[in-house]
Amino acid sequence: MLSVRGISAVYPGGIRAFADVSFEAKAGENIALVGANGAGKTSLLLALVGILPLSSGSVSVAGVELDPDNPGDLRRKVGLVFQNPEDQLFMPSIYEDLVFGPRNLGLSEEDAARRAAGALELLGISRLKDRSPLRLSGGEKRLAAIATVLTMRPEVMLFDEPTAFLDPRARRSLIAALKPLPHTKIIATHDLPFAAQLCARALILKDGGIRAQGSTEALFGDSALMEECGL
Ligand SMILES: Nc1ncnc2c1ncn2[C@@H]1O[C@H](COP(=O)(O)OP(=O)(O)OP(=O)(O)O)[C@@H](O)[C@H]1O
Ligand SMILES: [Mg+2]
Repeated sequence: MLSVRGISAVYPGGIRAFADVSFEAKAGENIALVGANGAGKTSLLLALVGILPLSSGSVSVAGVELDPDNPGDLRRKVGLVFQNPEDQLFMPSIYEDLVFGPRNLGLSEEDAARRAAGALELLGISRLKDRSPLRLSGGEKRLAAIATVLTMRPEVMLFDEPTAFLDPRARRSLIAALKPLPHTKIIATHDLPFAAQLCARALILKDGGIRAQGSTEALFGDSALMEECGL
């Protein structure tokens, strides 16, 4: 479903974001992306949605090669839930945020409204539809941000630190909301119990490269490896 082959990216100024990263995700698979601060997790997610350009390698989704000169293609197939929901919610109401993407795709108002309602329902937050994003709790903002990505009907969903700043109850409702989603998911997180609960497989990044990948249980149980990777 998602095939990543030998990708590398560099920030302006020559700082290496990550190098020679390869992995495959099957349809519907959840993969945890873990690693110390600065290991390259956020950079990898930004590259997979075409925000950070690749310096080498290639990516395909459902057999379609992504053209680096045409990132629009990839943005329709891959959705990123940013670490900070405020980067995703910028309209006066949640409803306006939800129909923003579908309207940009050229959908009719009726279809955009249907997608908005469907995303809210899926996450159990229909009550937030007419609220201002500025006046939601952290957990509500997170779910609303996820809903904006769902309205785009991506095949792959990427999450950057989705449990950051959530209290235990909001964290549990996030797990309950994410579990039934059928999408292929890549979840960057420092919250190892959360990763273990949602993801059967994990990738461990170290200094911009994949240090290990495999079953989450086996990797997280390898205390020498975890220690080496700052986890
Ligand atoms: N905008 C940027 N400009 C230049 N270098 C950057 C930028 N953002 C990140 N980097 C560098 O890229 C490398 C990878 O950073 P990245 O943010 O991807 O790590 P991360 O694994 O997400 O870390 P964290 O756990 O702290 O979120 C680091 O060396 C970092 O200093
Ligand atoms: Mg990060």
